[in-house]
This record gives sequence, C-alpha cells and structure tokens, in this order.
Amino acid sequence: MAPSAPPAAGPLRHVLSAQEFDRARLETLFADARAMEAVLAAGGDERLRGRVMATLFYEPSTRTRLSFESAMLRLGGSVISTENARDFSSAIKGETLEDTVRMVSGYADCIVLRHPEEGAAARAGRVAGVPVINAGDGPGQHPTQSLLDLYTISRELGRLDDLQVVLVGDLAHGRTVRSLAYLLAKFRDVRLTFVAPAMTRMRPDITGYLTAQGVPVRETEDLLEAVPSADVVYQTRVQRERFHDDQSWAAAAAVRERYAITPAVMARMPARSVLLHPLPRVDEIDPAVDLDPRAAYFRQARNGVAVRMALLAQVLA
Ligand code: CP
Repeated sequence: MAPSAPPAAGPLRHVLSAQEFDRARLETLFADARAMEAVLAAGGDERLRGRVMATLFYEPSTRTRLSFESAMLRLGGSVISTENARDFSSAIKGETLEDTVRMVSGYADCIVLRHPEEGAAARAGRVAGVPVINAGDGPGQHPTQSLLDLYTISRELGRLDDLQVVLVGDLAHGRTVRSLAYLLAKFRDVRLTFVAPAMTRMRPDITGYLTAQGVPVRETEDLLEAVPSADVVYQTRVQRERFHDDQSWAAAAAVRERYAITPAVMARMPARSVLLHPLPRVDEIDPAVDLDPRAAYFRQARNGVAVRMALLAQVLA
C-alpha cells in the first residue's frame, strides 16, 4: 500500500485510504458531522432522497455496515445490500471482484465495500463507475473507522493537537490503527506509543511513514508503563482471523492477557483521558471498565452514524 498518497483536491470521489484526507478536509468533515448530530436529533432529513447506496460485504460486520445503512436512511436515501457477499453473491460462482463492482455500479450511486484482501478497495476503485468507500480491506486500512475515531477524540477531549496516543494490541493486523496513524500524523505535537508483543508489532511501513513525517514514535511491550502519560489509549482485538497457522495464533493468545485493559490499568491513566476501541471486543477490555467515564468506545461506535452521514453527503453531493 502506498504510504503517502496525496490528498485529493475538490470533491471526494472514492474513499480508499486515510492518506486521502488532509487536515482541512478532516476539519470540514468533522464540522459536517457535528451538524449531522443535529440532523439526527431532529429525526433525519431528505437530502439524499433518490440516491442508492450498495453495501457489499465479503467479511462480517455489525457496526460498519449497519451504521452506513443507518446513515443513508437517515438522509432519505435507499440501501441495497449483500451482507455475506462471499457466499451469497455471484462470487461463489467465480465472478471476480472487478466484475461484481462493474455490475453494482449500474445499480447504485456508491459502493461501500468490505473485503478480506488488502488492496481490494483500490482494485474496486479502478473499475467502478461510482464512488467506492473502503469499509475495511483485510489487514490494509479502514479509513472511515479512523475518521470516526478521530472525531470521537475531538468530541471527548476538545482537541486533536498536542496528544499522547497509546495504541495497544494487534497492531500488525489492525487496519484501524494503521488508518488512524496516518490521520494523527496530520496534527501538531502528536506522539505515538505502540504497545504490543513482538509478533503483533506495528508494521514498518507505518513506523517509517510516521518517522518521515516527524511524528515521535516509541515502541514498548509494557502497557502499565505506557498509560500514565496517555491522553488516548486505543485498544484493539487480537484478530484470530488474520493468523494463518495455529502455532503463531497460540503464541499471540498466550500473551494476550498482559495487554488487557482492567480497572487496575484504568487507575494508572490520567483523570482526563479517553479509552477507545473500534470493537468488537473479546476479552481485551474487562467489562468492569465500561462504567468508567473515560471508557468512550460505545459513544465512539455511535459517532459512526453522524460521521458516515457527513461522508455520504460529501461523496454523493
Ligand atoms: N469497527 C468495526 O469495523 O466493526 P465491524 O466489524 O462490526 O464493522
């Protein structure tokens, strides 16, 4: 994946990677998302009436697919969907992703695509006749998740500059942390700490990009040592589905407990800080943490609707 595609000028077309967003575009999107919160509170509007969004998901999803569909419906648009495209689209008969995307371009005004292969969204974008939004391409990127992550940080802490961000867990396979790292690099005085065992440490394309952008990066295996200075702790799930052999999965699972967020870890975080997770969680955040006011992951997931409403309104403008 290209480390630093330039941000597109003019209206958004495809949304394939986080690198397409510069600071100005992010600030406009977040102002629009804030306005969409008011639209939601008023019961929605009709600005996308007559427009159709297709959700084409080759991997499971709860939040991304349903929040995109909710966003489209709240703006008066319509949705066509295949929630298990691997089994219930013509992919099962051998149709290529490219041909499917060509077909769906004739049925919808934009395509929201989730696919298990890194680079699949870019492939779709090359042949699509309508905008393609990457809803996660294997271990590649998940740009719209990182948009709502950043929006949540802004809503919770009131700023996006001068942040100490601690990213924890399966950083090797976590597409959300990869996209988020690209976006955080757009802001001033952001420092990143990666907390992971050797087998799931952040891949060098991201650490290299951050270093080239002048973003201070530190790596450690010690969660308790990292959190006391954090403004943001971003926890991730160890992704069983990305481990292709039992031995490496067993090795990752054996150390998973060391990286779990528990009340004891929360006790070491600053009073004014925030705990995020893209969800779903398994056991990497103790449910005993949920009532802590700094635990923002359910608010974060909810913010996905307003952010995706703002994004759809821009893409379909
Ligand atoms: N955060 C996220 O991508 O969740 P889903 O897999 O449920 O869409």
